Amino acid sequence: MKYLWILLFFSLSLFGIDGEEVYKKKCSSCHQLYVPVEVLMKNFMEQNNTLLHLKAPTVNQLSYRLKQRIGDPKGDKDIQLMEVTAFIQNYLLHPDKQKSICLPEILSYFNTMPSFKGKISDEEMEAVAEWIYFYLPPVKEVNELQYVDYQKAFSLAKRLGKIIMIEVTSPTCHYCIKMEETTLKDPDVVALISSDFIPVRVDVSRQKLPNNLKWSMTPTFIFLNSDGSVLKTVPGAWMKDDFLTILKEVKHSEGDER
Ligand code: HEC
Repeated sequence: MKYLWILLFFSLSLFGIDGEEVYKKKCSSCHQLYVPVEVLMKNFMEQNNTLLHLKAPTVNQLSYRLKQRIGDPKGDKDIQLMEVTAFIQNYLLHPDKQKSICLPEILSYFNTMPSFKGKISDEEMEAVAEWIYFYLPPVKEVNELQYVDYQKAFSLAKRLGKIIMIEVTSPTCHYCIKMEETTLKDPDVVALISSDFIPVRVDVSRQKLPNNLKWSMTPTFIFLNSDGSVLKTVPGAWMKDDFLTILKEVKHSEGDER
């Protein structure tokens, strides 16, 4: 019996509908993709959703809660996928907060989802349910630093409550390259920067540092608040442990200011 269901399931998947496409077209106006759990906690538990202004649970929240609350989390994955799919299909057609698998304190920030009755096909529901079930955070986020533009850094820093880290560098700077290849690729360093900082890289052989920021050598790391005030300027290339200490000190000093 079990295999019959699986067969049926996969034959439906063969229609070739891409779950991610369905999400983009029909769900992304309300459900954001990935937001790290610490940021979600801060948003809901400390800031009454004023940090992110979410209209609905994020896809990583949905994926996590569905796998935890529907069927047997430790049981057969194929069976659970079918159960989750059935739940999502039912919820899309007959939304009702009473049936919700989300945390009540988070649900209180949202309206009930509008019904998709007549607006989505069975195949689309299956495809998007499977995509949500297997959804994983973007891998890049944890493997390497995601540098952003200086302009964009301020709005991000404000929105996410993070510190801006400007790396002053140039292509002829031997120590910059060395640090980029070692310390700045180290998983612990990448994890700390990704969770608490917005990294910006400025190549001073091609562009000036904005806002008259001062530097005397490459590399230099300048840490800024989201209002543009300098928290700390750190010249030189650093090994992993020393750089982690610097990052923690900066993070800590910003905490004192608040
Ligand atoms: C107009 C905004 C909107 C759109 C579009 C939307 N949703 Fe939702 N969805 C919500 C809100 C708000 C909630 C949380 C409140 C609730 O559960 O009704 C929610 C909750 C859910 C839940 C969790 C149900 C629960 O247990 O709380 C699932 C699963 C879900 N949506 C899937 C989808 C899928 C799949 C799509 C696209 C086909 C979609 N949603 C499109 C607003 C939306």
